[in-house]
Amino acid sequence: MSKINLNKISHSYNPNDPNPTYALNPFSMVWEDGKRYAILGPSGCGKTTMLNIVSGLVRPSSGKILFDEKDVTDLKTESRNIAQVFQFPVIYSTMTVYDNLAFPLRCRNFSQEIVEERVNSVAETLNLKSFLKLPARKLTADQKQLISLGRGLVREDVAAVLMDEPLTVIDPDLKFKLRRNLKEINEKYKTTLVYVTHDQNEAMTFADNIIVMSEGEVVQTGTPKELFERPKTTFVGYFIGSPAMNLFESETSSNNSVKINDTLIKTSTDLSKLKNNKVKLGIRSEFIKIAENQKENVISVDVEKVEDLGNYKLLTAKMGNLTIKSKINRETEVSSEKVNLYIPPEKCCVYEDEKLI
Ligand SMILES: Nc1ncnc2c1ncn2[C@@H]1O[C@H](COP(=O)(O)OP(=O)(O)O)[C@@H](O)[C@H]1O
Ligand SMILES: [Mg+2]
Repeated sequence: MSKINLNKISHSYNPNDPNPTYALNPFSMVWEDGKRYAILGPSGCGKTTMLNIVSGLVRPSSGKILFDEKDVTDLKTESRNIAQVFQFPVIYSTMTVYDNLAFPLRCRNFSQEIVEERVNSVAETLNLKSFLKLPARKLTADQKQLISLGRGLVREDVAAVLMDEPLTVIDPDLKFKLRRNLKEINEKYKTTLVYVTHDQNEAMTFADNIIVMSEGEVVQTGTPKELFERPKTTFVGYFIGSPAMNLFESETSSNNSVKINDTLIKTSTDLSKLKNNKVKLGIRSEFIKIAENQKENVISVDVEKVEDLGNYKLLTAKMGNLTIKSKINRETEVSSEKVNLYIPPEKCCVYEDEKLI
């Protein structure tokens, strides 16, 4: 396994056009050996392009890729020691499940003993043990994708396993279980796993580190906690979290406060050096609470609805034309039409030109 270094990579599929468009704008990042990464972003933002550049299916228009200091930019996929799992199954349908799983190992002349051990271990993890002797074509679409996944995971000597939305064809219950299994595999074998998804929930539950992309741009990389608590752009605040981060147009005021409608909200951000006074205040619904005896940072809102969502209630309220969402305790009864909500200054994120200050 290796440390993967993406150095000033960019990519255009039409570089010779008078006006080339970029599927990936220049970026650099390092993937540490043995960790779990998720590449997250809406469809068309460049996730597959990034993954294919790492595996060697696409040569970047500029930049270098290093595996442990070794420049692999011009090496073909076969020479990069990478396993890649695609969105749809890639299997040999006439071979047995066992032979499909064994194939990547046999190609590299692993001993019969290792083949046996690894195939059984992967089949166990993926619930394929009872199908090993069947021809792969007899399995369901779900199970075929499990074989694909197994073929990606069967070698321990790869630099990384790259997975491009691998669980798309798999039903939700099994998905959850498989993500947990992938985590176990990563912990047990210390294989670097890179998982592409457009589903924030998948990314947040799977990865140690998430790379958030938007329109060919890497907008933030960080732990799930960092992305949740300090989104670097309003896009990340909006894209990550359910519901999305509350974002309010506001104006700066003295003492690091911002004014929303006519209410002053204190923040912990230094706003003294700002060039313009138009900002956005971002606050997660998880951090807005019903006010108790706070004197500052309290807003009076009109209750619109309260939904019981199992382990919390989601309060939707209005302050003038603004909509505010707050997650409150299940036990809290909201009986009046008006409530006071408290916004903790240290949880406020202030954005200038959509970027966190
Ligand atoms: N082979 C290709 N030729 C031309 N344009 C492509 C090709 N593959 C992807 N693109 C374009 O590059 C952008 C990024 O695509 P992709 O990396 O597939 O995004 P994602 O995987 O996030 O959905 C999109 O605008 C897509 O249309
Ligand atoms: Mg894709």
